[in-house]
Amino acid sequence: MSENNILVAVDNLKKYFPITGGMWGRQVGTVKAVDGVTFAIQAGETLGLVGESGCGKSTTGRAILLLHEPTSGRVTFDGEDLTKLSSSEVRKLRPKMQMIFQDPYASLNPRHNVGKIVGEPLVINGVMKKGSQEYKDKVAELLKLVGLDPGYVRRFPHEFSGGQRQRIGIARALSLHPSFIVCDEPISALDVSIQAQVVNLLQDLQEQMGLTYLFIAHDLSMVKHISHRIAVMYLGRLMELAGRIELFEDPLHPYTQSLNSAVPVPNPRLERQRKSFILKGDPPSPANPPPGCVFHTRCPLAINECTTRVPEFREMRPGHFVACHLADEAGSSKIPEQTVLASVVD
Ligand SMILES: Nc1ncnc2c1ncn2[C@@H]1O[C@H](COP(=O)(O)OP(=O)(O)OP(=O)(O)O)[C@@H](O)[C@H]1O
Ligand code: SF4
Ligand SMILES: [Mg+2]
Repeated sequence: MSENNILVAVDNLKKYFPITGGMWGRQVGTVKAVDGVTFAIQAGETLGLVGESGCGKSTTGRAILLLHEPTSGRVTFDGEDLTKLSSSEVRKLRPKMQMIFQDPYASLNPRHNVGKIVGEPLVINGVMKKGSQEYKDKVAELLKLVGLDPGYVRRFPHEFSGGQRQRIGIARALSLHPSFIVCDEPISALDVSIQAQVVNLLQDLQEQMGLTYLFIAHDLSMVKHISHRIAVMYLGRLMELAGRIELFEDPLHPYTQSLNSAVPVPNPRLERQRKSFILKGDPPSPANPPPGCVFHTRCPLAINECTTRVPEFREMRPGHFVACHLADEAGSSKIPEQTVLASVVD
């Protein structure tokens, strides 16, 4: 990946939330929602971010946009270290970085019509005057851009389907010409038949407008078609990051392998060979993460070292990063055969 084309870079990002309790609201613990995450996204690229509920995906996205102040680490956007900017400088940059949410209904004000929802950022940011011809033309253009009839401007969110509501959310996010969008599970709440339409729309918009996406989802099948590269997250940390094809065809981390085994393969021969890792239990709480490799309590391959030493996030092959003591360039070749078999079901 060429260094100079990077739009967003995250370096050892941490976001901890205090847990308060007792009569005096004292801090009684810390949720390590994001615990040392490093990645970069090239301009025009889609990076998929996948992991189970509560692993820190949304917190990562929100911390990049400075909607959560990072506890430590660096976030650079277009070469600027966001953590060093004053709040007025951040406000100026904000239009360039937008977010699309999982539940389009909850994120759209039910009392505002579509015209107001889509056009509001233009007014708030002083780009256009509400009611001006320029403003009306812009709202109509944005609606057309996302495949909605501009005649819908006076309708309210409840009059639309889930897919249409997501289109309204996308139109609003595009109103200020962003270059980067955090798409936080934008298709998870939609019918399967509608999911592909929204993914296609996001891809078309990316091509037309040169957009860069961080596309968050809880399973691999949802990021498969849209991502150029995919990062896999577990309990606040990245387990693996690789190009889309390589991550699906040759995952190096046992956690990715377990997620991968849940994605159906269209080829019947490969489908027969597909193996399922059984992951025991639920992920531990980020308020009390296990020592060593955070995945060790559920990893079928864990060895003693995994319980004490944190695996480094290493580049095993060009552009393919993994955090596992047992991974090497040849993949999981060091993993003892019988351990794999013992942890696998047909
Ligand atoms: N504002 C907050 N205050 C305290 N804890 C928080 C806050 N936001 C998130 N958390 C905690 O941080 C952890 C990570 O949450 P986050 O929402 O980032 O996960 P996620 O991967 O997006 O999950 P999901 O798939 O359910 O959306 C969770 O344990 C969550 O309870
Ligand atoms: S470091 Fe150990 S526990 Fe962690 S994924 Fe690798 S084998 Fe499993
Ligand atoms: Mg989330």
